Amino acid sequence: MAAMHEDIDHILVSEGQLRQKVAELGATVSRDYAGKDLLLVSILKGAAVFMADLMRAVTIPCKIDFMVVSSYGGANTSTTGLVKIVKDLDEDLTGKDVLIVEDILDTGVTLSHLMPMLRLRHPASVEICAILSKPSRRKADVHPRYLGFEVPDEFVVGYGLDYDEKYRNLPYVGVLKPEIYSK
Ligand code: IMP
Ligand code: MG
Repeated sequence: MAAMHEDIDHILVSEGQLRQKVAELGATVSRDYAGKDLLLVSILKGAAVFMADLMRAVTIPCKIDFMVVSSYGGANTSTTGLVKIVKDLDEDLTGKDVLIVEDILDTGVTLSHLMPMLRLRHPASVEICAILSKPSRRKADVHPRYLGFEVPDEFVVGYGLDYDEKYRNLPYVGVLKPEIYSK
């Protein structure tokens, strides 16, 4: 069984760059949300790794919660982009300052549908913290308040992001060798 690293064509964001950025984001979030009722909401599974790191870089009291969503609708779900909640939050959002912790903002379709759904639950605020963004792919008008790195329009894996449910445990963000997709 070959090492995962051998499937990677090139690294886009290194482990060190991620560590430093997460520390910066944690410090900024801690400053901005001081005195507020902060709830970090992570969308599984991709954001699990970023969530685990970010929450430990946040130095103010906060709660965490997780949800699972899936797109459904027409044949072309990526563009129709209706979002179904597969596993809902446990927390009541009333009066809370919700920060959605996301792995990557790609088309933005998922969050453009999810944010209005969460706003109906009367939170004090709803913002996005994404470790990665592909601005060239954006279809929906979604703007993260906090952003780690912009990446080009390439399919990326690692740091929580998968290809066919694999590579989530790579400690960096990279691009797979083309032959991996044709297997
Ligand atoms: P959206 O297009 O912004 O709605 O992105 C939805 C989800 O697609 C993200 O949260 C990721 O889980 C997944 N995704 C988007 N781009 C990539 C990628 O390059 N690699 C792995 N997953 C991705
Ligand atoms: Mg995701």
